[in-house]
Amino acid sequence: IKADIGIIGLGVMGSSLAIHLSRKGWKVAVCDEFRPDLLEQHKKKFPRHMAANSLEEFVRLLKKPAKVLMMIKAGKPVDDYLEKLSVHLGFGDTIIDGGNSHFADSDRRHKLLTQKDIHFVGMGISGGEYGALHGASFMPGGSRQGWKEISPIFETITAKTDDNYPCCCWIGTDGAGHFVKMVHNGIEYGLMQILCEVYHILKCALALDHEDIYEVFQSWNRGPVRSYLLEISTAILSKKEGSTPILDLILDTAKHKGTGKWTAQAALDLGVAIPTISTAIHSRFLSAIRNERLFAAEQFALNFSDVELQDITNNIYHALCSSMMCTYAQGFALMHRASLEYGWQLKLHEIARIWRGGCIIRAEMLSMIDRAFFENNDLENVLIDPFFVNVLNRTHHHWRALVISALKVGVPIPAISSALNYFDSYRSAWLPANLLQAQRDYFGAHGYERKDRPGVFHSDWRKK
Ligand code: 6PG
Repeated sequence: IKADIGIIGLGVMGSSLAIHLSRKGWKVAVCDEFRPDLLEQHKKKFPRHMAANSLEEFVRLLKKPAKVLMMIKAGKPVDDYLEKLSVHLGFGDTIIDGGNSHFADSDRRHKLLTQKDIHFVGMGISGGEYGALHGASFMPGGSRQGWKEISPIFETITAKTDDNYPCCCWIGTDGAGHFVKMVHNGIEYGLMQILCEVYHILKCALALDHEDIYEVFQSWNRGPVRSYLLEISTAILSKKEGSTPILDLILDTAKHKGTGKWTAQAALDLGVAIPTISTAIHSRFLSAIRNERLFAAEQFALNFSDVELQDITNNIYHALCSSMMCTYAQGFALMHRASLEYGWQLKLHEIARIWRGGCIIRAEMLSMIDRAFFENNDLENVLIDPFFVNVLNRTHHHWRALVISALKVGVPIPAISSALNYFDSYRSAWLPANLLQAQRDYFGAHGYERKDRPGVFHSDWRKK
């Protein structure tokens, strides 16, 4: 008997996917040349999985046409494995890269393997260990034929939305799958930071303890802000070590693996504004320079005690809701632009749908985003969908009030305030970029466009 699918890389995601696939009745082969210790552990725990000590043996275990899922660290290890694997694989075989690879790498690898008649699928996978074991969200791109070959297998381990849609669909050619996963992670950064800021206000401006904050978060997790990240943040708040909340024991510095940074870089390349997502990355950088912050904190011992904080919880709730909307809006605007630029024809409503279950950024409001793009796939920004217009028109004053309160007490809320500034810039019929054009023309003779006639103009600004 040969294996239906082989998995390379037995870290948490690789081994969990192997377990889930075999639970669904697929014969699975596994291999990890870099971590023989993980292979040994896996062999002992899961003797039904066909374990191979070398790549040659691994490939021999696979049914033809072979299907290989790589779950290894993004970057050079993927290229190294692809080179070795392509010696053993050939016409009609499919290789899937399920890691967090950069979309440009997936683009290049897809082209390279197509020349060798091997299907390459660059597939974003979201859901962490739990998702891998119980149903994840899959974002496949690259070779469509490759996806046809493997989709019957992956559809059996895909998460479902509450209304039973599979959280998996073909995204597009080249690196489209990994691009969409990258934007998913950018949104993830934004949402996480917004929740951290809400926690900061409740803890420092309102001086609530963790149990009280738990109650507040708990009470919010049913309306439009109901989401996986709010749910896990609520659970985290209640977790204690002895009688101490674990959060009090955790250092206030955050790391990152790079996918958020790539999202910001892609947005800069495409000229799309995603300030809330970028701000979330900057906030991680600021958190990381803890010693500098500790010193600065001593220099600026501010004391604000007389700020009005009535009705603040309601304001925080609306600030959370609106900032989440802006974060999704920015991610979708980026995908909309990328789709036009790279010719991917992304179906934005399907992307919203496959994010409604299984993945880290699943949230109630994605149903409305799904609906908005289903009605109009050409919508440049979901904020102008009538539903979102209505919500924001009704509630933005709460958001503003919260930003003002937080600024007054000196609690930093960079993502929430950047989201409000994004909203205000986006809804401004007029922005002061006329002055900006004039400044550029003044010092660099870059020219400017006028309201009253077409063309590019230049003024001799120094002439009296
Ligand atoms: C997911 C996650 C996953 C991973 C992030 C963490 O969708 O399952 O996004 O891919 O947890 O890459 O990224 P950082 O380490 O950069 O926060």
